[in-house]
Formats: sequence, structure tokens, C-alpha cells
Amino acid sequence: KRRIGVMTSGGDAPGMNGSVRAVVRMALHSNCEAYAIYEGYDGLVKGGDMIKEMQWEDVRGFLSEGGTLIGTARCMEFMQRDGRRTAAKNMILKGIDALVICGGDGSLTGADRFRDEWPSLLEELVEKKELTSEQVAPFKHLNIVGLVGSIDNDLSMTDATIGCYSSLARICEAIDSVDTTATSHQRAFVVETMGRHCGWLTLMAGVATGSDFIFIPEQPAKEGWEGNMLAIIHKHRQMGKRKTIVIVAEGAIDEHLNKITPHQIKEILSGAGLDTRVTTLGHVQRGGQPAAYDRMLSTLQGVEAVKAVLEATPDTPSPVICMIENKIVRRPLLEAVAQTKKVAEAIEKKDFKTAMELRDAE
Ligand code: F6P
Repeated sequence: KRRIGVMTSGGDAPGMNGSVRAVVRMALHSNCEAYAIYEGYDGLVKGGDMIKEMQWEDVRGFLSEGGTLIGTARCMEFMQRDGRRTAAKNMILKGIDALVICGGDGSLTGADRFRDEWPSLLEELVEKKELTSEQVAPFKHLNIVGLVGSIDNDLSMTDATIGCYSSLARICEAIDSVDTTATSHQRAFVVETMGRHCGWLTLMAGVATGSDFIFIPEQPAKEGWEGNMLAIIHKHRQMGKRKTIVIVAEGAIDEHLNKITPHQIKEILSGAGLDTRVTTLGHVQRGGQPAAYDRMLSTLQGVEAVKAVLEATPDTPSPVICMIENKIVRRPLLEAVAQTKKVAEAIEKKDFKTAMELRDAE
């Protein structure tokens, strides 16, 4: 029987548990054995009890739970070759040669590198007499399949990452709450949102809550933005609006690449006579139950991931499971990561035109 491992890695995201459940159950349904690797790459390096065989009932109730029930961690040891060799050994001892990883682009790139090194890691294990050649012989290739779990929705080649719609819903609920108190006092609120270098959460929250102004990394604020923002807010107030909501992505910048901070905006709004408060939503945005969309996405993608494992040949590049125009599709993992990096590099070089074209090309 084929043994398939599943793990979650990087920052947790609502829906990750749904993907673990789907991988476990689809593996069992396909006459394979399923193994959960606890605490991300840490579990792979530690081995033993951290790699646990899963049965159908072990993932009961996972679909509606937030966070990741099998844990996640940043693992320094896996960054080193020795750590990866130990991880390979632990996998072979458990008979696992396929891994489905739900995480962000960093976690997925790490996994693909592991697959590349796999044959040489096995050679080393035999050379160092940690395993015999008979033990490693049945495990010539490692299959890696990526699922993108991140609230940021920052991976190229997929319309939505697992977790982004739950986070968006949480942000909207929080802004609705801020709205009632803002309206009561006729105040202005500057709300800071997560997303790292990606403004998707902020842009969508801006549309979904009807905020007055937003700041996102992809569209750096141009010279004179302060006056422009105040003019728009003033107009809204003149039209009878009793509140002002400005949403700032944590990665927001101006055209000189200077960070735009919520407190800087607060100063400007206060200077214009608005009683202003700052609300940083923080990890509330990453917590709580997954929205229906993420339960659906993680389930469909988890099923597809197991199919991808079973159909893989030694020459198939590692796939990442994506959602494009409402269809679950496979894309080459490394291409998706490379495209994501190109956007970030273009922003770093102040080449916003290319960055926007690359984002649009997705
Ligand atoms: O990538 C998800 C994310 O929540 C980002 O939006 C945010 O910048 C970062 O992780 C926060 O990381 P940490 O949980 O390590 O503080």
C-alpha cells in the first residue's frame, strides 16, 4: 500500500484542517495509508510519534475547525542539509514517499528542494550507514504536492489561497463593528490589515465595507496623497457620512518605497479636525472558524492532491493545486513560486508597471 504524508507549514490559515481531512480520507478511499506529520517540518525531522498514521475517524470534525490541528512550526533544522537527511530517513522508516504540504510559498519551495535532493540524501544515508541500500531501494522518488494555505492570497497562478476568504470575512466583521462606534461618535478609524506584501485582503475589504480610502503595496501612494485622501473624506462627510474608515495594508508604501503607517495617517486625519483612532486587527484576522468557501476549497484541493500523487511519474514536476476561474487545476509548483517572486522583485525595484502587469497576467 502506498503511504502518503500530509502536513501544514508556515503561518496557519483557516481551512488547513479541511485539507488534512480531505487528504487523509481520499488517501484511505484510494486504498493508500495516510500519515499526519505534526508541527510541520519539525515533525519530519523529529520523526517517531510526530508522524502518525491516520484513520478515517481521526479527522472527524476537522472541517469546521480553525487554525491547524496538526500544528505548524518554523523549523531551522530542515533548512540545513543534515536536517533534511534526517527527515528523509524518518520518512523511509515509516514507508512514506509522498508528501502533501499545505502552506505558503516558502514552505512549498522548501518541499520541492527536498524532492530534488532526495536521491542524493538517500545515497548519503547509505554511505553513513544510517540505512541499508535494501531499506532505501523501494523509495527512489519523492512525490511532493503543494496546497496553498495562507490568508494573504499572495500566490501567483491561483485565484484564491486556502484561508483568504475566511480572513476577509473576519476583517469585514471587525470593520462592521468599528463602523457602529465610529458612526456614533462621528469619528475616523484607521484600520491596519495583514497580507504581508499583498494588498488583496485590504482591497477586497475596502470594497466589501465601503471604506473611504485604502493603502496597498501594489499601488504605492503618489506624491500629494495626503491632500487627495482628505479631499475624498471631506466630500463623503459633506454628503452626510458620519464616519470615516481608512484601511492600511501592513505592506503599504508610498512611491519612494517608504512604509505608510496607520499612525502617520492618524496624524493627518487628526490635523484635519477628525477625532481619530487606530485599530490594528492583528491575528484576529487569521483565527476562528473557516468560511464556507475555504471548507469547500480545501476539500476539493485535498482530493485533487491525492489524485496528483497517484498519477505522478518521476518526470512530472511537483504540482501545486490551484483554483482558476472556479476550476481546480494543477500548475507546476516552481513556476507559481517564480511568478510570485517576480511580482515582489518588481515592487522592490519600483517597477510598479511590471508588477501590475504580472498580477493582471494571472
Ligand atoms: O502570512 C500570513 C501572515 O498572517 C501575514 O499576513 C503576516 O504578515 C504574517 O503572517 C504574520 O506572521 P506571524 O504570525 O509570524 O506574526
